[in-house]
Amino acid sequence: MTVFYFTSTGNCLAVAKCIGGTLISIPQVVDYSDLHFKDDAIGIVFPIYGFKTPKMVGRFLDTVKITDVGVSVSFGEKCEGCFACTHLCPQNAIHLKGQRSGKRWRNPDVSLSEIIQSNNRRQTERQA
Ligand SMILES: Cc1cc2nc3c(=O)[nH]c(=O)nc-3n(C[C@H](O)[C@H](O)[C@H](O)COP(=O)(O)O)c2cc1C
Repeated sequence: MTVFYFTSTGNCLAVAKCIGGTLISIPQVVDYSDLHFKDDAIGIVFPIYGFKTPKMVGRFLDTVKITDVGVSVSFGEKCEGCFACTHLCPQNAIHLKGQRSGKRWRNPDVSLSEIIQSNNRRQTERQA
């Protein structure tokens, strides 16, 4: 597994370390002329800046080529700023900068997998 990460204050590096595998810092590879990686699983960990992907991460996602990937998860420009990541992280590891409360909410009548399924657009993207 390869995990690409971008961090300024260390949170995303800490998350990448928890995930494990080969860790690659995006700033250290983003200017490679051949940005081509191959692995059975690839992860990308980065903070949200102003409800968006950091510029350097956007540039990386625009140019990187990944092949033979079994599983790929990235938000890219698709982040809605809905805070589901903060509320639903099983380890409560995702926090807003300066937030005053670590309290989290999920409707008790709805499971985490139901929310994931409700927001999984993979099938509709294929049909579009
Ligand atoms: C310039 C800037 C803008 C940010 N904007 C957001 C935001 O829109 N939404 C959010 O949830 N967190 C925002 N944050 C908080 C970071 O995403 C958060 O602190 C993250 O854990 C930092 O990761 P790092 O420690 O790996 O750098 C922002 C942080 C910075 C520095």
